[in-house]
Amino acid sequence: MSVHNDLAVRVEQLTRTYRTDGQAVTALAGVDAGFARGTFTAVMGPSGSGKSTLLQTAAGLDRPTSGEVWIGDTELARLSETRLTKLRRDRIGFVFQAFNLIGALTVEENIVLPLRLSGARPDRAWLAEVVRRVGLGPRLAHRPAQLSGGQQQRVAIARAVAMRPDVIFCDEPTGALDTQTAAEVLALLRSMVDEHGQTVVMVTHDPAAASYADRVIVLADGRIVRDMPQPGVARIAEQLASLRRTPVTVAG
Ligand SMILES: Nc1ncnc2c1ncn2[C@@H]1O[C@H](COP(=O)(O)OP(=O)(O)O)[C@@H](O)[C@H]1O
Ligand SMILES: [Mg+2]
Repeated sequence: MSVHNDLAVRVEQLTRTYRTDGQAVTALAGVDAGFARGTFTAVMGPSGSGKSTLLQTAAGLDRPTSGEVWIGDTELARLSETRLTKLRRDRIGFVFQAFNLIGALTVEENIVLPLRLSGARPDRAWLAEVVRRVGLGPRLAHRPAQLSGGQQQRVAIARAVAMRPDVIFCDEPTGALDTQTAAEVLALLRSMVDEHGQTVVMVTHDPAAASYADRVIVLADGRIVRDMPQPGVARIAEQLASLRRTPVTVAG
């Protein structure tokens, strides 16, 4: 298999089937996609189309049924659980809709938790830059419960980038936020790409959120059915509406 160093993440013929009570559900039906370094991709599609499964398999949180996941030049299936855990911690950031901060820890402790766990030497200059960029300097000693939703999500993003990961996966990061707060969080993700060369892959239902991205891919029934460079809000909305009108089938 050739190595694509310009891609932060690559998935090839990715499938994931869940079996519950003898019933098989195909969440991913053969997805091929590459995510270039320093780009921001939005992943859209109807509920149940496989968006979260794509993120979780690409992030090594879940093993695919078949196919390959590459983080840079590392193929995840070849890693032991221990090495996979280490790769997830050191090279992947994950931001969830529900923030998933640790309530007993301060903002600062939450942000440096991945560093603590990895035993890596903290890059103080980078951490200071991250704290400055997320605008939480005055809140470092506070606990998550003392913060607004938008502030909590900014802490989660700071935690995700603290290790300078190869890629930050975000599953509906603005799903629990109001429009104004969502805009702040999206601008922060955008700046991580533009100013710090990070790679972001973000699931969202919202065409306005997706318009912050460089590229929008749309899933339906576990396959990519649209792949659009820099579509505006109107085109995104139109393409999602066209999916609802005519179920798209892709050969193969
Ligand atoms: N842990 C699981 N067990 C069984 N089925 C699952 C599980 N996770 C997801 N699925 C199924 O896989 C499909 C894709 O789910 P998901 O990736 O969560 O979609 P999306 O994020 O686009 O809403 C759905 O049919 C869902 O019900
Ligand atoms: Mg989902």
